[in-house]
Amino acid sequence: MSTAISQTAYNYKVVRQFAIMTVVWGIIGMGMGVFIAAQLVWPELNFDLPWTSFGRLRPLHTNLVVFAFGGCALFATSYYVVQRTSQARIISDSLASFTFWGWQAVLVLAVITLPQGFTSTKEYAELEWPIDILIAIVWVSYALVFFGTIAKRKVKHIYVGNWFFGGFILTVALLHIVNNLEIPVTAFKSYSIYAGATDAMVQWWYGHNAVGFFLTAGFLGMMYYFVPKQAERPIYSYRLSIVHFWALITVYIWAGPHHLHYTALPDWAQSLGMAMSIILLAPSWGGMINGMMTLSGAWHKLRTDPILRFLVVSLAFYGMSTFEGPMMAIKTVNALSHYTDWTIGHVHAGALGWVAMISIGSLYHLIPKVYGRPQMHSIGLINAHFWLATIGTVLYIASMWVNGITQGLMWRAVNEDGTLTYSFVEALEASHPGFIIRFIGGAFFASGMLLMAYNTWRTVRVAKPAEYEAAAQMA
Ligand code: HEM
Ligand code: HEM
Repeated sequence: MSTAISQTAYNYKVVRQFAIMTVVWGIIGMGMGVFIAAQLVWPELNFDLPWTSFGRLRPLHTNLVVFAFGGCALFATSYYVVQRTSQARIISDSLASFTFWGWQAVLVLAVITLPQGFTSTKEYAELEWPIDILIAIVWVSYALVFFGTIAKRKVKHIYVGNWFFGGFILTVALLHIVNNLEIPVTAFKSYSIYAGATDAMVQWWYGHNAVGFFLTAGFLGMMYYFVPKQAERPIYSYRLSIVHFWALITVYIWAGPHHLHYTALPDWAQSLGMAMSIILLAPSWGGMINGMMTLSGAWHKLRTDPILRFLVVSLAFYGMSTFEGPMMAIKTVNALSHYTDWTIGHVHAGALGWVAMISIGSLYHLIPKVYGRPQMHSIGLINAHFWLATIGTVLYIASMWVNGITQGLMWRAVNEDGTLTYSFVEALEASHPGFIIRFIGGAFFASGMLLMAYNTWRTVRVAKPAEYEAAAQMA
């Protein structure tokens, strides 16, 4: 592209690439979720093969939904938002393109290595050391593109959405590098440099902040741009959004020990994690209320706009999961919930209800814009998708609450003589109906993604290159 154009047009190509791959990886990652949910109902589906066993496909699911689906959504929206709110084209087209191809390479390597059993064993950081190095290089390039674009912005102000995206990019770099410090022994095997309780603490400092910064701060960046845009209202309180940012990042970083209650971790650290988790309710709800109240005077739009429905319902699930999380962080509650399906329900209230719904809503807003189309091909299909996603999420989390509490109570029930009332298999049998309902809920959610793919294809197919270029002109 000539210098003249690059001064006056945004780089929407990289946004389009990441947006399309969000839908593709969403289908693959959620399809994998439905498959492993089916394995828990019908264990024969493990096929007695190592690479199709639940133990290997579960981390593949988490990597594909969090880093492939969620990651591509974050790249797409952050590149779109940073350019538009900075009134500047991305600082380097080639570096941005490198982040796209580099990230896809990481994901393909995950698909190849995880089913073969190559794993560092750290949850959400399973990929082995050569892939870790590639991730670090791609991520540093992402930071250069993002902050470089902010540096050349034409407006004085840095919009709050970019603060959240920036916080997410910097913190994920730090988390990834510190948690993956490891000593390679072969090309595919390494050992963590940390040992024992220290290793566990570093892992959950990483794990919890992966939730806080990857699955929360980045998506809040999305929320602060796409909710006001779609509602055509300014953000309810700009001041609250700044307080929200600083409070959230200050508190989140201390809450990791709630994953290690009743373990060898020193007791004071567990209590600190619990206290910080309870405090975390305040900034989380501050942000949720700020997003919701942005609809003041625009609530009637919910009747006709399914994209806004996605965005608002995602905020409701965000509020719900950030109420549930602090409760589960209380040691006595965690004594019941830990190891049970309650945790899985909590995860998916956040993952499906919040992360996936806010991404889907944002993409339905963004896709026509970057292809120069007036709107998505079918609003009716977006509406159908909305209901499939909402019903799917509710079925998923309600079945896991029932299962989780049943399991927790059955495991701790004791007879008068101190022996256990129920065997483990009895608790498993009691969980079977819940597994079936979770499978059905997951299938609902994943089939909504198929509707999205069809709708996206019909929208994109008719777009002309001239329309792409016109769309990318700076307003
Ligand atoms: C105020 C906010 C939150 C707090 C205090 C919180 C707290 C907790 C607690 C106490 C657990 C259970 C730990 C255990 O027993 O092992 C947990 C698990 C988890 N939460 Fe949250 N949560 C919050 C929000 C969220 C959100 C918004 C998401 C997702 C998008 C999320 C994702 C997860 C995940 C993935 C796990 C499972 C980790 C694992 O064991 O693999 N959380 N959270
Ligand atoms: C169609 C939708 C989905 C289905 C059917 C599904 C199903 C599952 C199943 C069966 C598990 C294993 C549960 C267990 O070990 O007992 C799981 C784990 C997990 N899933 Fe999903 N999933 C879906 C979507 C998602 C999405 C969109 C995300 C994230 C954005 C996500 C994040 C996770 C995480 C983080 C875990 C690990 C939880 C933990 O260790 O506590 N899932 N999922």
